[in-house]
Amino acid sequence: MFIQNVSSRLKTQRRATMADSNIPKKRLEGKVAIITGAASGIGEAAARLFAESGAYVVIADIQDELGHHVATSIGLNCATYIHCDVSDELQVKATIDWTLTKFGHLDIMFSNAGIGGSRACPSILHMDMAHLNKILTVNVRGMAAAIKHAGLAMVGQGTRGSIICTASVSSVLGGVALHDYTMSKHAIVGLVKSAASELGKHGIRVNCISPYAVATPMLSSAFDEMGGDALGSLEQIISSVSNLKGVVLKAENVADAALFLATDDSSFVSGHNLVVDGGFTVVNHAFGIYK
Ligand SMILES: NC(=O)c1ccc[n+]([C@@H]2O[C@H](COP(=O)([O-])OP(=O)(O)OC[C@H]3O[C@@H](n4cnc5c(N)ncnc54)[C@H](O)[C@@H]3O)[C@@H](O)[C@H]2O)c1
Repeated sequence: MFIQNVSSRLKTQRRATMADSNIPKKRLEGKVAIITGAASGIGEAAARLFAESGAYVVIADIQDELGHHVATSIGLNCATYIHCDVSDELQVKATIDWTLTKFGHLDIMFSNAGIGGSRACPSILHMDMAHLNKILTVNVRGMAAAIKHAGLAMVGQGTRGSIICTASVSSVLGGVALHDYTMSKHAIVGLVKSAASELGKHGIRVNCISPYAVATPMLSSAFDEMGGDALGSLEQIISSVSNLKGVVLKAENVADAALFLATDDSSFVSGHNLVVDGGFTVVNHAFGIYK
């Protein structure tokens, strides 16, 4: 029943597009996307935007209640939730297999799930090697598993595809995040460039997005541990050290960048690290002659 509903929705979309060419086509109409870490923050914003743009979205996360809630609020005719711990390759594969069984194709993989660094041991001199293993397993190995299995699906179906990973401004700078997190995000850029070099011949683009700080639950919980309220509001602090003034970066702005990389608007962009930071990483704030 579920499969019939979805497939009839995709057919109706196609018929409607053919019937009235004056109606602007939604940018992701007929596309199927998996977004990891979509129960919250940037992934959730992307799930909502991709669905609004016509895609069927598979929300893959480990926060089951929240994930189901996001899918239901988007509408079960265009979104569903699947439990998927990206640190377990078999769960990543199972999520992609489920998607292929339901829809027959996968067009977009937004590998976004990630965790923060070890705040208990911030110094390199006391690095928590157990947390280092954990963060690399989620933030790097999880991304590699997503690229591997999404790539296999896309190569197998013989269609073009877009794979997007979430890195961070700490993929290009040291000193803005904890060591383990910085390592993991630098690794994603290497992974993306390398995967793009192999998958290009199949018409599959692989890119990453590197956002500046966004007040999502990940950053808010770190902020709370640091004594949040006493420091002022998180967004005020983020804005006070940002380069671009008058705009506060939101999860929705990062979702816009993901939509760009998911659509044909970026059809010749691959191996790229799209930094969404209002110029933060290109300015030397220590000199700051234009402050
Ligand atoms: N918030 C920021 O300032 C910021 C800046 C740059 C990059 N990022 C990156 O953006 C991505 C999304 O983070 P966010 O800020 O939206 O935080 P968030 O905490 O709101 O969302 C992260 C999501 O990932 C999920 N997740 C964690 N581990 C998982 C696992 N093993 N398997 C599946 N899902 C898992 C969480 O349940 C959560 O829903 C992360 O990769 C993060 O590193 C965030």
